[in-house]
Amino acid sequence: MDDIDLSYSFLGKKLACPVIINALTGGTDEAAEINRGLASLAHKYGLAMAVGSQTIALERPGLDKSFAVVRDMNPEGVILANVSANSSVEDCLAAVDMIAADGLQLHFNVPQELAMNEGDRNFRGILENVGLITQACPVPVIAKEVGFGFSQESALKLFNCGVRIFDNGGKGGTNFLAIEGHRGGRLSQGLSNWGISTAASLGEILALKLPVQIIASGGIRQASDLAKAIAMGAELVGIGGFFLKILLQEGIQELDQRLDQLFYQTKAVFLMAGAADCMEIKKKPVIILGRTAEWLKTRGIDPVQWCRS
Ligand SMILES: Cc1cc2nc3c(=O)[nH]c(=O)nc-3n(C[C@H](O)[C@H](O)[C@H](O)COP(=O)(O)O)c2cc1C
Repeated sequence: MDDIDLSYSFLGKKLACPVIINALTGGTDEAAEINRGLASLAHKYGLAMAVGSQTIALERPGLDKSFAVVRDMNPEGVILANVSANSSVEDCLAAVDMIAADGLQLHFNVPQELAMNEGDRNFRGILENVGLITQACPVPVIAKEVGFGFSQESALKLFNCGVRIFDNGGKGGTNFLAIEGHRGGRLSQGLSNWGISTAASLGEILALKLPVQIIASGGIRQASDLAKAIAMGAELVGIGGFFLKILLQEGIQELDQRLDQLFYQTKAVFLMAGAADCMEIKKKPVIILGRTAEWLKTRGIDPVQWCRS
């Protein structure tokens, strides 16, 4: 067990485990405390961490401390900035600067915006904008879905705009249409199941066989999810809602213990599968059944390609 090595190199730095604490919050005093707690655990366990959307701090400069605390807590760690894919190049550069980020997440959340009464309605020019950002940004740009999953078509368009890292943000975890439904949102009834599942979206992007890195996210909660995603071809997994819920409902000590348990169990899964590290687990056959297999076949993608050792 002690010889199982979960470490992974990402954006030129070494992570102890291929996990990102995904973009959640920032802006308020409460958000600063949440970010402080999450960043302390990212530091302790050698995880990457993304901050929540920084737009609020770009509009109101006094709020930047609630984001910068993530870098303060973890000076050497992998930290990702986060803004909307609609943001200006200047805002992107300022967001990266604010936290000395190693990468920039551009979030895509069209269904969420359409559900929100106060949300965006105009997405024209977004691809051209992403092209400008990828050219100007001093750190790698990550195209990030928030729970509706990138399709092959979307991933290809973004690749053509210069994106080389995807966070596929599939359906199966945090559901923003359901959340917005509780706030009187406009798409919850009849549409809250919208999206591509995390596994299907991962398969879709991988099947393109592009020179890209993929972070699998959306509903990742346990060691077996993590191992399956890495084995299928993801570089890392992103975990958002699951960590936040434990932190808010059960406290930081409980989250600390759950992270310890997650790594123990991930190492156990690797050992049980006969894989010493993240490269070896990728060589193990992944058996894709049920709805995911059906989805992939219908899209002309052979799920058997992951099943060969
Ligand atoms: C409370 C909350 C706030 C979030 N805020 C952001 C955000 O500001 N920017 C962003 O890109 N994603 C945001 N997300 C989305 C997550 O980063 C993640 O993509 C999504 O929750 C799916 O992963 P999960 O199923 O592990 O939660 C937020 C999620 C939650 C639960």
